[in-house]
Amino acid sequence: MSDTQPGNLPVNAAEPFEPKIVAYCCTYCAYTAADLAGSMRLEYAPNVRVIQILCTGKIDAILLLRAFEDGADAVYVAGCALGDCHYMEGNLRAMQTVAHAKHLLQEVGLQPERLEFFHIPASAGPLFAQRADEMTAVARRLGPNPLRRTIQRDAGGKLIKPPDLHPPLPEAKLGKLIRHAERVSDVSM
Ligand code: FES
Repeated sequence: MSDTQPGNLPVNAAEPFEPKIVAYCCTYCAYTAADLAGSMRLEYAPNVRVIQILCTGKIDAILLLRAFEDGADAVYVAGCALGDCHYMEGNLRAMQTVAHAKHLLQEVGLQPERLEFFHIPASAGPLFAQRADEMTAVARRLGPNPLRRTIQRDAGGKLIKPPDLHPPLPEAKLGKLIRHAERVSDVSM
């Protein structure tokens, strides 16, 4: 039995959908806030996989697109408050990167709301929990990332071509965009 969600591929209604969320958190603020939320025993959606990074300024659009390509239903980048970045303007740079990546998502037919940037100070454990719940709710509302269904890897990590469920689309276009972004970053280095 199958059901269709707006803007997404048909999904099996018998399978409960549990979104996968990836959160890139800067070590000085958002990651510390995540730790604090844990010590405060705050309850929040368990769907979020936190990835510690030194500063959100290290994020690039390719990394964000790859997270979606690898099956994340939503992704967010969380860094220090404005003016508090330990690397001066890392969070400003990350905000621009996220805005750019949102545009790329739209180009490949993914809803840009699947990607966000948040400022989460180190002392804001409850805010960390709130953002995790919010992004999980967004992913639940939007449904599974359509790319998640088309990308499969074998035991060696090689991509397996999926059966023709639909015309070749975001996956191919996303790959093209990633290659384009890689070329741009090579030139700018
Ligand atoms: Fe936190 Fe740069 S050190 S965003």
